[in-house]
Amino acid sequence: MDTELDDILHESFAEHVRDIKGSYYKGVWLPQDYLKITDDIENFRVRDDDVWVCSFPRSGTTWTLEMVWCICNDLNFEKANKILSTERVFYLEFLGATTAGISMARKGLASKLTIDSANRLPSPRFFKSHLPFHLLPKDLRTGNTKAKIVYITRNVKDVCISYYHLRKNSKIYCGTFDNYCRLFLENRLAYTPYWNHLIGYWKAKKSHNILFLKFEDMKTDLPSVIKSVTRFFNTSLIDKQMEALCDHLSFHKMQLNPTTNGQIDYKPVLENCYNIKCSDVAFFIRIGQSDQWKTDMSEELIKTFDSWEVENLKNYPELRTHLL
Ligand code: A3P
Repeated sequence: MDTELDDILHESFAEHVRDIKGSYYKGVWLPQDYLKITDDIENFRVRDDDVWVCSFPRSGTTWTLEMVWCICNDLNFEKANKILSTERVFYLEFLGATTAGISMARKGLASKLTIDSANRLPSPRFFKSHLPFHLLPKDLRTGNTKAKIVYITRNVKDVCISYYHLRKNSKIYCGTFDNYCRLFLENRLAYTPYWNHLIGYWKAKKSHNILFLKFEDMKTDLPSVIKSVTRFFNTSLIDKQMEALCDHLSFHKMQLNPTTNGQIDYKPVLENCYNIKCSDVAFFIRIGQSDQWKTDMSEELIKTFDSWEVENLKNYPELRTHLL
């Protein structure tokens, strides 16, 4: 282990989360608490009509989930605006892989969120997971089910910037941006290594029901992305419905919507577990722009990220093209 990185990790994560230690599990950096739920995840029974949205954190998961959920629920905006996204969608590894989930589990506040409780949910169920493909439940990996997966990607530099701000705004990370990038590049943040995450799903796409989407396409042409999602789920929308869905999914609507913006669910968890105030109302749905790296990263850092990308994707030209 690199002791310099250990020091950065130790110094940069806030005192109240320092006892959540990370380590590698099957090549993935995850909190050690994750070990408590690996068997439950591996053996989780997937149903044919389950819908999964998977991603590396901060790639646009919440946005994609909202789009997919609405499309698969006849655009039931009334329900979408009444019930929290985190209640409509089950976050598979929440209790073992996230700071909020681990803290809740340790305080005995998480009985409704155990993986077993997902077995009792009525169909069709909606899942979110940031796990790489090789850590998903066996049923999904082995193709024993017709369940569909939507995978969302985003420019890696913007992902890293967004990840940094989330951790900083939720008072988990208190180090510098440069050190956060270093931890990201050197695979010491939850769910890294980054490229293996994308490559795992990309390879699985050949044999599984996986639709790849891109954050940047959602930004520039949301209706086209919605059309590809409706095709994937064998449905379609008329113009008026398309307009209504685009409006529901607009950045400002989602940032203000208490069912999607994390104010009712994530924020109080952080506050209750750590007794800290997250003052920033936009801590979860923050800016929602592409190309933030152009202003937020130094020339040198951009070069480092770009050559790292080229090196890691040298055997995956099609994936590289998808990301362009
Ligand atoms: P920023 O931090 O760059 O603003 P995830 O849901 O995977 O955690 O991704 C969060 C990122 O998606 C955040 O990026 C968030 O603002 C952005 N996002 C969420 N909803 C969005 C929307 N409707 N339009 C644009 N971006 C959105």
